[in-house]
Amino acid sequence: MHFYNSLLAWYLQKKRDLPWRNTTDPYPIWLSEIMLQQTRVAQGLPYYLSFMEAFPTVFDLANADEEHVLKLWQGLGYYSRARNMHQTAKIIAHDFNGIFPNNYTDLLKLKGIGQYTAAAIASFAFNEAVPVVDGNVFRVLARYLNVETDIASAAAKKEFTALAKELMPHDNPALFNQAIMEFGAMQCTPKNPNCNQCVFNSSCAALQKGLVGQLPVKLKKTKVTNRYLNYVVLLDHANNTQINKRTEKGIWYNLYEFPIIETEMELDFDAISNLISTKFCDFNIESIVQYNPNTIIHKLSHQKLHINFYRVQVGKEIEGGISSEQIKKYPFPIVIYNFIEKYSI
Ligand code: ADE
Repeated sequence: MHFYNSLLAWYLQKKRDLPWRNTTDPYPIWLSEIMLQQTRVAQGLPYYLSFMEAFPTVFDLANADEEHVLKLWQGLGYYSRARNMHQTAKIIAHDFNGIFPNNYTDLLKLKGIGQYTAAAIASFAFNEAVPVVDGNVFRVLARYLNVETDIASAAAKKEFTALAKELMPHDNPALFNQAIMEFGAMQCTPKNPNCNQCVFNSSCAALQKGLVGQLPVKLKKTKVTNRYLNYVVLLDHANNTQINKRTEKGIWYNLYEFPIIETEMELDFDAISNLISTKFCDFNIESIVQYNPNTIIHKLSHQKLHINFYRVQVGKEIEGGISSEQIKKYPFPIVIYNFIEKYSI
């Protein structure tokens, strides 16, 4: 009980007032938990507020166009979360009469709801005694109990879930889960935690052994692939341009982009110009200029993107061309959207 009592004392004093904590309605809880995966609260909060305003109920989300959902998600990354969330909203609205499953096992069957999210919704909305195990929880438990298991290993999830379950008071799982995540986010931080002022500074096993900086152990390094994306901004004499919806599976599925030439390595301007001239010869190219003086680097979790944009003035009118007034209505990857803003495309 020492762990929970101290944790709770800390939480009641230090917790942030976050809107999804003042409800047991599974809809806002689900939205917030999907948005906060791999995302800090400060970044996710404005998205949460704009989604709740645009789609106050699961029916509103279910009935929205995917493009509207992706537009509001723009900049949050991991766009499959938004697409899965939208599909799941449709199932809940249309097949379940808008009522969420009320337990961990049934929640887990829904698209985009994994162990973490199912546990979060089951505990926060329905007070089911299932522990949430996210990065924060791994860190807190690894340090407090001095557990050296590699958190990237297959066995870790099971082990840490069992540890969390032992520490959890079964009469208040919701409070325990909120508190342990908040503690990981605010106090037991990945870098430079302030252990001098910590409620566990006399009971934390890692602190006693001087191992706080080494825990949790994470061995597997994620492999990062380099990709070289060259975007062709065609502009006709009416200043209209062409954009395409990405249809291949992988990053940015169903988001928009300019016509793309992806290469195996970074090519110089002459080489790219030749490729553009060949691919777009039907458009009567008049000039090719690079917009960005230096290659733009955009890092994703598993990919490092090397991006260049080329302004290609064409003589031929672009069929279905998009004007600069229309373009901002479409959902783009944030790196492309920022480019559009910067160069007033
Ligand atoms: N990160 C993920 N879920 C969270 C929650 N419910 N509160 C604060 N941060 C979180």
